[in-house]
Amino acid sequence: MTHSNLPDNQMRKILVTSALPYANGPLHLGHMVEYIQTDIWVRFQRMSGNQCYFVCADDAHGTPIMLRARKEGITPEELIQRYREEHERDFADFKISFDNYHSTHSPENRELARYIYLQLKEGGHIRRKVINQAYDPGENMFLPDRFVKGTCPRCGAEDQYGDSCERCGATYTPSDLINPVSVLSGMTPEQRESEHLFVQLSNFSEMLQNWVASELGQKEAQNKLKEWFDVGLSDWDISRDPPYFGFEIPGETDKYFYVWLDAPIGYMASFKNLCDREGIDFDLFWKNEQATELYNFIGKDILYFHTLFWPAMLHGAGFRRPTDVYTHGFLTVNGKKMSKSRGTFIMARTYLDILDPDYLRYYYAGKLNEKIEDIDLNLEDFIQRINSDLIGKVVNIASRSARFISGRFDGMLSSKLARPELYQEMIEAREAISDAYENRSFSRAMREIMALADKANQYVNEMQPWVIAKDSARGQELHEVCTQGINMFRVLMFYLAPVVPELVRRSGEFLNDPIDRLDRLDDPLLDHQIAPFVHLLTRIQQKDINALIEASRNEDSSADADQQELISIEDFARIDMRTARIIEAADVQESNKLIRLKVDLGTETRQVFAGIKGFYQPEELIGKKVVVVKNLKPRKMKFGTSEGMILAAGDDHGLWLINPGDEVPPGERVS
Ligand code: 2FM
Ligand code: ZN
Repeated sequence: MTHSNLPDNQMRKILVTSALPYANGPLHLGHMVEYIQTDIWVRFQRMSGNQCYFVCADDAHGTPIMLRARKEGITPEELIQRYREEHERDFADFKISFDNYHSTHSPENRELARYIYLQLKEGGHIRRKVINQAYDPGENMFLPDRFVKGTCPRCGAEDQYGDSCERCGATYTPSDLINPVSVLSGMTPEQRESEHLFVQLSNFSEMLQNWVASELGQKEAQNKLKEWFDVGLSDWDISRDPPYFGFEIPGETDKYFYVWLDAPIGYMASFKNLCDREGIDFDLFWKNEQATELYNFIGKDILYFHTLFWPAMLHGAGFRRPTDVYTHGFLTVNGKKMSKSRGTFIMARTYLDILDPDYLRYYYAGKLNEKIEDIDLNLEDFIQRINSDLIGKVVNIASRSARFISGRFDGMLSSKLARPELYQEMIEAREAISDAYENRSFSRAMREIMALADKANQYVNEMQPWVIAKDSARGQELHEVCTQGINMFRVLMFYLAPVVPELVRRSGEFLNDPIDRLDRLDDPLLDHQIAPFVHLLTRIQQKDINALIEASRNEDSSADADQQELISIEDFARIDMRTARIIEAADVQESNKLIRLKVDLGTETRQVFAGIKGFYQPEELIGKKVVVVKNLKPRKMKFGTSEGMILAAGDDHGLWLINPGDEVPPGERVS
């Protein structure tokens, strides 16, 4: 697919990527910052007449994915397939205009990873080293740093990950932790030796420093890299021992590529897949840095991978390096880190179920700039911005003019504008707005566009077409004033097109003219039939936001291991579980969930309200052996106090009380 009509010599040829999401969790609004930012930039390039390909893929390898699949009792292939489908649906509904979406677990990626590795090896950039690593003797596997927890050796904070302390910021290796435990088995990890393969990054030090100095545009990135260069580049461990979900390293026995080796190569693999399908010249984009441009959009947490490892790999294997790497900050919601309990950990799908994607796209555009700053989604401000800018300022211009064009002039625009110089002024802003888009100063672009919308509204307010309409002698004037209004709306829509594609699509249908290439603005729409005005955009209401928060609070995050907070073995040990026997059971009439139970714990009896109605009849419960959480805080309910909890397994369709075995006496500790 090509997106351009410019003659070949004027048209830029650009390949753009967004970071690849891991295939073990759903997308949330934090992820969407990057995809929306990239998509706006890509759409702008295409509207400007450049050829711009946009590719992405799921990042499908690594230990967390392997373990997640194991936990669900499915194969990693099944897991990554499911997430890939989910991600693709979310992206499509957010109108992210990828030319291709692929997976790192693909034949193209296997081949490219193998090729790049062998090139690096041939170039003398790979070395072997035996290293000591944490090994879980229960799970029989080496543990990634994040799978070991313990006490920080510097400040003594408990329950810290094996790579760094969240309290004091110290970085270390898992073996430095005091009392380390495996988060998988709870056992103390052993130190075991294993031979690993490393890329000698220092071989590329000079090349990287030159590349960074001449290509990396962002100041903050430059500064960060300077710090890294000052410390010196260490060798990069690119191999992992089994069990591992990934590609086997050619020429080795039982060694796999570390997920971060083949992840960025996934950009190439996705593009290769597109090239093979559509006959595009792969090498032109990956070997010729004079003829083509390559941009990677990323978040600030993965700068190291993209500005050191990635260009080193490319260069070492005879490929071009990125023209630039565009880094953005993180998302906060209402000024704070997204949080499930506050209902601000909002999944892409939850948002899409309730709100129009264009709202969020516009809001993010209003916040984004070329810096690596965090951006905040303030939900009150969000309502305000959308309703006052998109509806109050932009859509309003069309609705006020369209009424008369349809009612009085059969939908025909006049043959001239009432104020051609005002139209001219609006299209002269094209340069400044394009410059803002090109430089990723989207917030500046939005400000410029809204300033034009204010001007357009001011014009309509001054002309008062609804007053002109009352005077039958002023028909021609009414026609030209409203044609002016429609044309000003059209200019705004062209400018907003990279940001709000759905609104723009509906507006294009209303204008009966496509909103695509920016240079079409040179000619206003005159003597042209437009469609009857339809409702273009609905106001956001507070109740929509309340529904969003409510739904996010209730989201079943058990489906998402990444979000699941792990508890330590000590936390677990605080739960006092005992065997018990049910001695009374009665229906709670006022509740459609609860059954009142009396349980014998050996030394005492307790009253417990259990949410098992519909799954068990009270009479069949008497005499059953169950497991009770004994040290749960008593909970006062309408019907009495619940003094513990009965353990059960199940979902909405079935529920089974956990039975410790009928021969066990009540009061035994369960652990
Ligand atoms: O940090 C992440 O979410 C990674 N999955 C990003 C990979 S980007 C690229 F290098 F593949
Ligand atoms: Zn610490």
